[in-house]
Order: sequence, then C-alpha cells, then structure tokens
Amino acid sequence: MALPSVNPTKTPSWKKLEHHFAEAQYIKMKDLFAKDEDRANKFTIKWDDFYVDVSKNRITEETFKYLLELADDVKLKEAIERQFSGEIINQTEGRAVLHTALRAPESSVVSVDGKNVMPEVHKVKQKIEGFTNEVVNGERKGYTGKPFTHIVNIGIGGSDLGPAMVVDALQFYKNHLTTYFVSNVDGDHVNEVIKKLDPETTLFVIVSKTFTTQETISNANTIKSWFLESASEADIAKHFVAVSTNLDAVSSFGIDSSNIFPMWDWVGGRFSLWSAVGLSISLAVGYDNYASLLNGANKMDEHFKNEDFDKNIPVVLGLISVWYNNFFKAESEAVIPYSQYLNQFATYLQQGIMESNGKSVDRNGNPIDYQTGTLIWGEPGTNSQHAFFQLIHQGTKLIPADFIGFVKSLHGNQDHHDKLTSNFLAQTEALLNGKTEAEVIAEGTKEVIIPFKIFEGNKPTNTIFINKLTPESLGKLIAMYEHKIFVQGVIWNIFSYDQFGVELGKQLASKILKEFSGEAQNEHDSSTSNLLNYYRQNS
Ligand code: F6P
Repeated sequence: MALPSVNPTKTPSWKKLEHHFAEAQYIKMKDLFAKDEDRANKFTIKWDDFYVDVSKNRITEETFKYLLELADDVKLKEAIERQFSGEIINQTEGRAVLHTALRAPESSVVSVDGKNVMPEVHKVKQKIEGFTNEVVNGERKGYTGKPFTHIVNIGIGGSDLGPAMVVDALQFYKNHLTTYFVSNVDGDHVNEVIKKLDPETTLFVIVSKTFTTQETISNANTIKSWFLESASEADIAKHFVAVSTNLDAVSSFGIDSSNIFPMWDWVGGRFSLWSAVGLSISLAVGYDNYASLLNGANKMDEHFKNEDFDKNIPVVLGLISVWYNNFFKAESEAVIPYSQYLNQFATYLQQGIMESNGKSVDRNGNPIDYQTGTLIWGEPGTNSQHAFFQLIHQGTKLIPADFIGFVKSLHGNQDHHDKLTSNFLAQTEALLNGKTEAEVIAEGTKEVIIPFKIFEGNKPTNTIFINKLTPESLGKLIAMYEHKIFVQGVIWNIFSYDQFGVELGKQLASKILKEFSGEAQNEHDSSTSNLLNYYRQNS
C-alpha cells in the first residue's frame, strides 16, 4: 500500500496554524520564558541518553497542539507503519524503504513482496563480521603475504558520505587500520590518496549500489591500473572487494564472487551505511562497534515507531522545522555539533535531507505551491562561532539551528570540555535573549555605537544534549535525522526516496564527454557552447 496522500495546506490543522501564525509570528521567546517557569521542562524530551530541549523555539503550547494535529491530519502514524512494514512507499521507483530492517534484531520479521528479508540481512552481517575480523586480526593478507594496513573506500554520495562521516566521528574507537575515502571524479583526489598507499598492504572496498556510477567506476579503474603496475590480475581477488546490487557488473570488473557483499534495492543510497556499504566502518572500528552503531539506530527506530508524537524526538523536530519552513518562511537550517568528531556531520546530512526532500511535485504528480526541503548547512562549534555565527546573531535571515553536544568528553580533558560546553550553552542563550539597548548602554558603550551592539535575540534553537559520543549514540543521532526527513516528507506529501533531479546533470555530462573525444556533436545554448570550446581550445 502506498503512503496516504494529503495536501497539508488543505487540512484543518494547517488552517489553524495559519490563523495562529498571524499572532505567533510576533512571539518573543524571552516573554514565554518569563511567563512560564516550567517552560523548559514542558518542552524537553528525555529519552535514553538523549536530552532534547526544544523550549528555545517560537512556539507556544497552542502551536505545539496544532502541529501535533497536523501530524494526525496527514496520517503520519499510518505512514510510519507502512514504512516499517515494507510496503512499496517509494512508489516512483516501485520499492520498499527498509534501511530500518538492517538494524532490526535478527529475530524480527520484515517482509518484502511476502518474503522475510531478515535471514538474508543477517547472512550479510555475518559475512561483514567474519571479513572484518580476518582483516583486523591480520589473518587475511595481501598478495605478498603481508597483513593489510590501509583501507580505501571508493564510492560517492550515499556510498561515501555515510561511511566517511561515521569513520571520522568514531576516530576515538578506531583500530590500527588507516582508512581513506576516494569519491570525486577529479583525478587529483584519487592521485593524492594513491601517493599514500602501498599496493602490498592496501585493501580496496568499491561501494556502488548500481556499479555504474561514473565517479566510482573511474576511480576504481584508475586504482586497479595503479595496482596492476606491481601486482598481477590474479592478485585483484585478494585486494578488491565490492558492495553492490549489480553482481554481474562487479564480476566483470574482475572481483572474485566471494568478495562481493550484496545489498538490496529497498535500501536507498543515502540511507545505506547500515548495510554492507558500512563495511569500511566495520573495518575501521571493528565489528562490535559497528554492531553498536546499528543497535543505537534500532533503539531510535523503536522510539520513533512507538512513542506518542508529543514525546517523539524525530516527530517533534520535524514539526518544529515545518513551522519555520512553511510559516516563517525560513529557508535554511543550521546543524552545529559541539564535537570536532562530527566535522562531517552537516555534509552528510545535506545529502540525506536535500536529496530526499528537495522536491516540487506532490505524491499525486501535481506541482506544489508550498515550501518543501530546507537548505542544510553547518560546521562544528566553536569554530563556526568564529566563522558564520555573526550572521545568525545579527543578520536579517531567520536560521533555526540544532545544537548537538555531549555531556562527557572522550579524552577526558575536563578543562577543554568545560570551555566547549560553556560555549555550547552560551550560544543558545545568546540567540534566545540577544542584548537590549539598555544592556548595551549599561556596558558604557559610546552612543554612536549603541545600535550596532544591540542583538535582537529571539533566534530559535534545538538543543540535543547526548551523554557521550559512542557508536550507539551516533547510531541514534543519525537515525533521528533519518526519521525527521521521513516525517517532513509525509507532511509535505512528497516522495522522499527518489532522486531524479540528480540524473539530468549525469546524462548531459556523458553527452558533453563524448564531444570532447569527437564522438558526438550536440546542440547547446551559446553560453555552454562557448565554455565547451574554451575548454577544448585551452586544455
Ligand atoms: O547522487 C545520486 C546517487 O544516486 C545517490 O543517491 C547515491 O548515493 C549515489 O548516487 C551513488 O550511487 P551508487 O551507490 O549507485 O554508486
């Protein structure tokens, strides 16, 4: 069964929200806190090792009530059930959406087309575990008998961003293997990585769901050629493994069938790090840590599936984001992790959020006349405070922001961690309260400077405070955003699991490539024509 299809703007709750917004847009959060001592408690969800405070938002209890009604009006509960039960909710591609099955316990039953997929999922997990242990323990060796020291993940988009972000985020838990990621078709990327490698001790993991992606296949071929400068064709079996649904294409590349880790078309690329796409994660941090990551995600799945919406973290975050996106017309959201380990987190989320919800046609195929996907951006604090925070504090744009922090430091340097956390807390407080004219004057500011030092405040933030960055809590955090994406896709009545917009550029690039080699001549607009000629004449 498909997802329910409801135009959100035609629901009673949307009308209530519109009506309510006429006044609510002038809400001053400071006044709400002054009026209600219990506000922070009322708008905080404590779940497991997560403390999620959404009180610093321009919402009242009335706003929240209407937003929850909106979730009911668009039949969110029904949609969640349909996703988890393996129905074909990715209708445009005719597929189920079951990344959640990859982290479900072995004993669960998840059916696709009447077949329980869990035994197959478990079989692949066992293969990942066995392979990881052999590589990490040094039992699996390269063509000259030396154990592996380096892993190179070759992939792009969902076959790169998730594993790259997680390996970076879990550096603290890393083993002795050095892990690199090659993604860009820019040859400088692969060549810079090759410079650091020894073919005798490097294991290559080619990750491509389709095994047709230009970037990945080009990089894999370049690496294979470099490898064959010192090794033989027969040695490929020892050094190259692949993760893909396209088993034939993998075999023609020369990879041994025992070195293929299958995946399934019911796992979308940007949600695939839980499948064998996460092999490089397992290799980098060991299978047990990888299993904890999956376990954390599963805990968030259970929370999302079972918790009432008013205490359901992904639902609440999704609803608040819709409030800003569709009523305040905020165009972007910032994600600011106060952890250097989450350096790549916003980049990773950009694909998840923007590839999923960057849509302008509804689930009935009609153009949409309301806003959908938000722009996502961010960098870790405190660095970002010294980069773009000025605009959030005093610019003209409304930028709701998620602040993600950890109560405990991994290296246990309390002095640094106190400083980091004081900044984490101070920023959301500053964004809430701003600085009034009276406060600026009281600081003894020269009169002509006063207007420049006033901070309006009233800038919304969510605080996601987690006990400690562990594989499990990271799994929960990623799954939290995955579910937020789903919630918003349901509300906006769009298909979140296709990405046809990415295809046009790929098609045109392959046509232009043929022109470079003189194989084809195409019609272009005058701008593209001039640029193309300029390149051909000067390259
Ligand atoms: O960017 C489009 C896309 O299809 C992503 O959704 C996917 O993650 C990426 O390309 C890589 O695809 P593949 O794993 O098939 O190489």
